[in-house]
Amino acid sequence: MGYKGCCGFNNYLYICTHYDLYYNTFNLMLKKNIEQAINAQINAEFWSAYLYLSMSAYCHENGNTGMANWFAVQFKEEQDHAQLLFNYVISRGGRITLAPIAQVQTHWESPLQAFEDTLTHEQKVTEMINNLYALADSEKDYATQSMLRWFIDEQVEEEETAQEIIKNLRLIKDNGFGLFMLDKELGARTYTPVTTTNKD
Ligand SMILES: [Fe+2]
Repeated sequence: MGYKGCCGFNNYLYICTHYDLYYNTFNLMLKKNIEQAINAQINAEFWSAYLYLSMSAYCHENGNTGMANWFAVQFKEEQDHAQLLFNYVISRGGRITLAPIAQVQTHWESPLQAFEDTLTHEQKVTEMINNLYALADSEKDYATQSMLRWFIDEQVEEEETAQEIIKNLRLIKDNGFGLFMLDKELGARTYTPVTTTNKD
């Protein structure tokens, strides 16, 4: 829908389309509070990546190379999560503001402790995603809610996987063969770039 009298070029016979352009642009653009919250989530995803890279380094030091591989894959996936959010902000005409990534822990007492911290961390991320969804809901931003649904499902998998590994590590305790077998299993994990149409 155009309207008369929008710009200097019109003479009331000319129907200006600028109105449509501006109207649609404003409609697509992210609200500032949502833009800020997604930027914070991008930082949290990069922080997660950094944390898992640190856990990977710890597992290498500890001689658990399979677990080190598992965390290295996790590191890459977290960067993909950040990239998905980044792409979304751009597609909505929003502004990316990358903040510093805070220091992460560099030592754990055992692989079990590293995986327990993984679960605790993923539970926090779930809470952040839920809060973001609630904000998008209160702002009636349906596109952001749709985008976040993928992340909500992803968090269920993240928590479930961490819980499963913790359960195995608790069963194994100090059994060398058990640890060897679990390490071998986690060493088989491969990286596939994350998109919203695939998982893991
Ligand atoms: Fe993530």
